[in-house]
Amino acid sequence: MSDVVTLSNRNGVAVVTLQNPPVNGLGFAVRTGLEAALRAATDDDTVQALVITGDGKMFSGGADIREFGQPPPDGTPPLPMLIDTIEASDKPVIAAIHGVALGGGCEVALGCHVRLATPDARVGLPEVTLGILPGAGGTQRMPRLVGIPAALDLIVNGKLVPAKKALALGIIDDIVEGDIVDAAVAHARRMVSENLPIRRASALDDKVVEARGTPEVFDDFRKTMARRARGFEAPFACVDCVEAAVNLPFAEGIVTERARFRELVASDQSKAQRHAFFAERQVTKIPDVPKSTPTLSLDTAAVIGCGTMGGGIAMNFANAGIPVTVFEVSQEALDKGLDVIRKNYAATVSKRRLSQNEMDQRLSLISTTVDYADLATVDVVVEAVFEDMALKKEVFGKLDTACKPGAILATNTSTLDVDEIAAATNRPDKVIGTHFFSPANVMKLMENVRGEQSSPETIATIMKLSKAIGKVGVLVGVCDGFVGNRMLYAYRRQSDFLLEEGALPAQIDKVIYDFGMPMGPYAMGDLAGLDVGWRIRQQQAATRPPHLRYSTVADHVCELGRFGQKTGAGWFRYEEGSRTPIPDPIVDELILKISQENGFTRREVGDQEILERCMYPLVNEGAKILEEGLAQRASDIDVIWMYGYGFPRFRGGPMFWADLVGVQTIYDTMSRLHDEHGDWLEPAPLLKRIAEQGKGFRDL
Ligand code: 3HC
Ligand code: NAI
Repeated sequence: MSDVVTLSNRNGVAVVTLQNPPVNGLGFAVRTGLEAALRAATDDDTVQALVITGDGKMFSGGADIREFGQPPPDGTPPLPMLIDTIEASDKPVIAAIHGVALGGGCEVALGCHVRLATPDARVGLPEVTLGILPGAGGTQRMPRLVGIPAALDLIVNGKLVPAKKALALGIIDDIVEGDIVDAAVAHARRMVSENLPIRRASALDDKVVEARGTPEVFDDFRKTMARRARGFEAPFACVDCVEAAVNLPFAEGIVTERARFRELVASDQSKAQRHAFFAERQVTKIPDVPKSTPTLSLDTAAVIGCGTMGGGIAMNFANAGIPVTVFEVSQEALDKGLDVIRKNYAATVSKRRLSQNEMDQRLSLISTTVDYADLATVDVVVEAVFEDMALKKEVFGKLDTACKPGAILATNTSTLDVDEIAAATNRPDKVIGTHFFSPANVMKLMENVRGEQSSPETIATIMKLSKAIGKVGVLVGVCDGFVGNRMLYAYRRQSDFLLEEGALPAQIDKVIYDFGMPMGPYAMGDLAGLDVGWRIRQQQAATRPPHLRYSTVADHVCELGRFGQKTGAGWFRYEEGSRTPIPDPIVDELILKISQENGFTRREVGDQEILERCMYPLVNEGAKILEEGLAQRASDIDVIWMYGYGFPRFRGGPMFWADLVGVQTIYDTMSRLHDEHGDWLEPAPLLKRIAEQGKGFRDL
């Protein structure tokens, strides 16, 4: 038929097979091929029924996202039209689903008259995660099959459901063991021989009629998602379309869906979310560590130090089914650390997100020791002791002696030189940084810090480890703060300067929150605790270059014993048992006093200035990092910021956002700010270069 869609005739049943690896994406060529196959099967009088299936790993992963925004070659049929053709067929059409049927793939299946799936298949409409909505009938057919509450949950949350649940919901008609295509062909024959009626999803209406005249169902749903979906356009458009399915005839609902789809697909939000999708897949690609690089086994692990980070890291191993030995300085420290782990699991059990059985199972994978000798056979060690170079070196020296020669020794340091730590061992090639983010059992990001001597095998193994424990591992180089925190410092520094110049914490936090970050820098500081940074700044005081501007505001806040939520007060104050930041006149007055003492005439600082002063230096620092080769690509930085700091996905990460704003605009503003405020704001040479070339970070 075509290269990407084949047609065979099995004694009167036409089998149409999508053959477009890796995900049978429904790109231009596939749609053209599918149209031809459908026409041939329809025109062939010997064909009495059709089966649609996918070759390889899955039925179909949906529309080809790469083609969005590109004009289709002349004559390419739109997907909705193809699905209408399938549904309108007088000959029964059966979808034979294995692997996944997602997005447009799921919509093709919904257009079929019967859907059969293998036991391990999954179906869903994840379009919302790409900033769009199901645009090939999914918002109209799905509610007619499963009813409104389930359809909202599936479409607005982009949930994938396993076959069993899909059957219970009514998305699929049966689960079959054995060869799915054989089963579908047999089913098709039965439909023909028994003259069974054809059921078209678009013609069903009992489930949508049920919800007609109850707009509160949708209003309530919008309220429940308001916080979760803050700033995103697509989830709300999804709700509108499901509501249209209830209130409008199918043909009109489809028009609404189409219009909203077109609007979203052209939006910056969707471009950003599509960028995020591909960026996440790019991070695993390391030019000098090809996929073929051998990796070491990761059957057992150890964690050194069971404090805030070590405990969370140990949970990650246990959650992934990897036995982990936790090492501490004393039994008392172990008991304390284990107690926190237990409480963490218990909280998840009480929220019904984990069964007691699973909790027990996970805890049984965590063993404890105070003896290095017990670490002799582990495959990988993650060190998470205090942030102190001398201590880290001592620990690595001991690990080097105690662990088998093949073991990888990783450090969770957040600021120290991984190469210096590696030099304390006789296996610097097997030393690497694994920078987890707090809380380590929750946050998905791992900055994997390659040392000068980390071997390709070590890097590949640690990237594999990230995946095995459900994290997003991004490879970075050694520098102060690595990629994420180094950029964070650039942004935090400016926000403190703005306090001196005229802004207050609540104002800055509101601008950053409204931009889409989960919280502003001051609420975040209060959550994380202010004392650690204060201690580090005190240590660095002697080496701080005197000509560079330094804000003492944060130090003064700490001097008042205000370390954030844990002391009930920091940049904000907190009522007993509450995490809601309340602006505190004490801090505001303190800021005013510091401004005066340091000779600033306070001025009105506008919201746009706050955004530019905080976010442009962040981007600028990202440009320096790229130039220094400490991140592999701009999109890796985006992944770090989305997963480590909650940078809004609908903006695609700071570097993608910079392209949307325009690198030229950012460069011009940085140049002006540099003139006005000095050294810290000097535009990065790379920023200048790409601005002059009229390019963006995407072009690097
Ligand atoms: N379009 C284009 N490329 C896609 C794609 C898609 N829909 N889905 C996956 N790919 C690419 C990936 O970028 C990757 O490319 P690479 O090898 O060059 O990095 C390759 O296919 C393999 O993808 P994964 O690494 O993700 O493979 P997995 O086997 O782990 O996962 C999957 C397969 C579950 C299908 C996963 O790829 C996925 O979730 N894909 C997106 C599904 C989706 O969102 N579909 C909706 C599309 S929009 C739509 O259908 C609109 C419609 O309503 C009109
Ligand atoms: P923590 O103070 O909560 O825990 C450190 C633990 O190490 C303590 O339980 C202590 O008993 C133990 N320890 C000290 N010396 C030891 C030794 N010789 N052998 C075994 N255990 C020893 O510290 P936290 O916050 O967990 O930090 C640990 C590491 O993680 C540091 O390097 C830190 O920079 C890094 N990090 C911390 C983050 C955070 O948000 N807290 C985020 C990312 C990294």
